[in-house]
Amino acid sequence: LLHDGTYYWYGTHMHENTAAALKGVGVYSSKNLYDWKNEGIALEVFPEGSGHKIESGCLIERPKVIFNEKTGKFVMWFHLELKGQGYKAAEYGVAISDSPVGPFKFLHAGRSCSGIIPMNMEASVVEKLSSSLNLKARTPEWRAAMKEGLFVVRDLGKGQMVRDMTIFVDDDGKAYHVFASEENNTLHLAELTDDYCGYTGKYVRVLPGRANEAPAIFKHKGQYWLIASGCTGWDPNPARMAVADDIWGPWKELDNPCVGDKANITFDSQSTFILPVPGTKNKWIFMADRWNSKNLKDSRYVWLPIEFEKGVPVLRWYDSWNY
Ligand code: DGJ
Repeated sequence: LLHDGTYYWYGTHMHENTAAALKGVGVYSSKNLYDWKNEGIALEVFPEGSGHKIESGCLIERPKVIFNEKTGKFVMWFHLELKGQGYKAAEYGVAISDSPVGPFKFLHAGRSCSGIIPMNMEASVVEKLSSSLNLKARTPEWRAAMKEGLFVVRDLGKGQMVRDMTIFVDDDGKAYHVFASEENNTLHLAELTDDYCGYTGKYVRVLPGRANEAPAIFKHKGQYWLIASGCTGWDPNPARMAVADDIWGPWKELDNPCVGDKANITFDSQSTFILPVPGTKNKWIFMADRWNSKNLKDSRYVWLPIEFEKGVPVLRWYDSWNY
């Protein structure tokens, strides 16, 4: 987050032998993106045994913070998994603060948009898929139904699953939550309310059945670009890319934006955010995690420039670079 000339960088406080959040979401600040100051824990987890949704030992992943001009509050969204339940809960979490370094106050957590059909799904499809809920998994019939929105229908009651996620704020100030849903099979893009603390109920499915995660979005010349990864746990895989003229789609998938050696594993990393370079119109930093699954707290970061070639973003490796 860039706010009043200072960058803030948020992330789960990781540990050697567990991905669980034992402390909370950490934050660092910087004036130049090179030198970083540890600002401590921005959102603290609740004590073990408290039974709170963000009790110590839960999973908090991919936190993102945006500033709301209307309310003057900093709003944090994150992927939350409840303690001891693996990746079953698949919830979002929201917290707010008066300061970018916290303390953030937990507001609520849950599934998204319960009872609401995505804008790009017909009511007749919902009716049809309701009778397909018992299909044997991984069969061609199941695959076809899954692409059409089988899991949307399954989860209409309790709300849609939320896993890997990002937040994108458009030029008009509208914010969107983009997250892996439907058992990680399909991304959802959901509009946030004016205070950025909840959903308006408007949402679409993006690239159904492509199993994208780690989404990151930026805008260039009126077009929306999405870079994501496939689903291979903590191991890297080839990045995916898609473009749309309208945030609501249709989204068109293109090739892996990475070229050169190790392009097939995104230079040993996984997308997490795309930062527009301040003071420029056409420069962005592709930010990625280089996970160390044997010691998650020793994971590293890869930042590369996004270069446009023939109108399409390209990522290539540089041992060092600057703007
Ligand atoms: C890949 C996701 O991108 C990460 O955020 C994390 O959930 C890991 N999977 C867990 O295996």
